[in-house]
Amino acid sequence: MDAYVSNDAGFSGSSVSEVDLSRRMFLAWLGIGLASLALPVPLWAMDDGRRTYQETITVLSGLYRGEVESHLRYKAYEARALQEGHANIAHLFAATADSEAIHAQRFSEILARLGVVVVPAEQLAGELAFHVGSTKENLRQATEVELAEIDVRYPQYLARMRAEGVEGALKAVAYAWRSEQQHRELIKDIQSGTGIFFGMLVERFRTTPVRYFVCQHCGSTLTAMPVERCPVCGFSIEWYKEIPLPAG
Ligand SMILES: [Fe+2]
Ligand SMILES: [Fe+2]
Repeated sequence: MDAYVSNDAGFSGSSVSEVDLSRRMFLAWLGIGLASLALPVPLWAMDDGRRTYQETITVLSGLYRGEVESHLRYKAYEARALQEGHANIAHLFAATADSEAIHAQRFSEILARLGVVVVPAEQLAGELAFHVGSTKENLRQATEVELAEIDVRYPQYLARMRAEGVEGALKAVAYAWRSEQQHRELIKDIQSGTGIFFGMLVERFRTTPVRYFVCQHCGSTLTAMPVERCPVCGFSIEWYKEIPLPAG
């Protein structure tokens, strides 16, 4: 199955009438059809009187896909930076890629709890295509396109989900938003030099070692270990992992 599939208990039961059977076959068919469209199976299709979280599922499903794509894109940017001899910029992209993988993981876990199983990241990788330019272009793309609208889009996601009140989902999206803001600041720090001074900035960046630490719970990306707790999710600093400098 190459998309979202329900694992909901709506298909279980002790006595199976023909009507039930045909209904279940229809729902199974509906599930397969929707799966082929890479959409979540709507919980309303189960018609079992349980509460539904359709908006939360829709938002999280889209975000999950976006996080997988961001992870892959940053990994590609990392590889390109290494090819161009910018190990420290590759290091920054390695850190942001790790953070995006955490976001994808958290969203997929919450979707699973809501009865939706997502396409595995490895499988999605085969479906996604994106442009990878020079490191100078990639830095600009990251801040001027990928991260440009986050302060508009994330409040909209949260507003759409709020009425359904899935606390874990609301927190995970808020954490992802905060992490994206951190990425924007980190990348902007060097992206501001992508004009005529790019070479000088790269040189400065090369000679100023930076360390990156990523919270494995929320994706928070910092250049120094926090003192006690993650400033984004509040988990202990044990959750932070230092991202090694990629080998050139
Ligand atoms: Fe993210
Ligand atoms: Fe955290």
